[in-house]
Amino acid sequence: MERTFIMLKPDAIQRGLMSDILKRIESKGYKLLAMKFLRIPREQAERHYAEHKGKPFFEGLIEYMTSGPVLMMVWEGENIIASMRTMMGKTNPNEAAPGTIRGDYAQQTGRNIIHGSDSPESAKREIELFFNDYEIQSWEPSVSKWLC
Ligand code: PPS
Repeated sequence: MERTFIMLKPDAIQRGLMSDILKRIESKGYKLLAMKFLRIPREQAERHYAEHKGKPFFEGLIEYMTSGPVLMMVWEGENIIASMRTMMGKTNPNEAAPGTIRGDYAQQTGRNIIHGSDSPESAKREIELFFNDYEIQSWEPSVSKWLC
C-alpha cells in the first residue's frame, strides 16, 4: 500500500468543491489517514514548493496558496500516487481530460484546485512537512462493529 499527500487549494474551498472532490477519492476506495483544515504559513508554503523557487510563477503561487485555508490530507491505496495524478488530470486544466478533477472543475493553471504528490519521494517529504506521526491514523474498516 502506498500513501500520498493531497491538498485542496484555497479556490476549491471557496467554491464549495470539497465534498465533491472527497467523494471521488473515497468512492475510489482509498482510505483517509489524516486531514487538516488550515491556512498555511508562508514559510511552510515556500518549503513545500521549494523546487520551484525562482520560476516566474513562484510568487503568485505562494500568494495564492496562502490566501485562504486549504484542506490537506494523507490518503492510502494501491498505486495511489500515480492514480491520484490521473484522477486529478493535467496541471493546466485546459489540457486536463473531462472526467478528471481539474478537467471538470478548473480553468486556469494558477487556480487548479488540487495538489497531489508526484512521486514516492515527494509524498514522504510532503507528508512529513505537514503531519506528525501521531496525526496519521492506522485503522481498518469493520463490518461487524458499527452496531453494538
Ligand atoms: S514545472 O516548471 O513544469 O516544474 O512546473 P509545474 O510542474 O507545471 O508546476 C509546479 C507547481 O506550480 C503550479 N503552477 C502555477 N501556479 C500558479 N500560477 C502558475 N502560472 C503556475 N504554473 C504552475 C502547479 O500547479 C504546480 O503546483 P501543484 O500544487 O503541484 O499543482
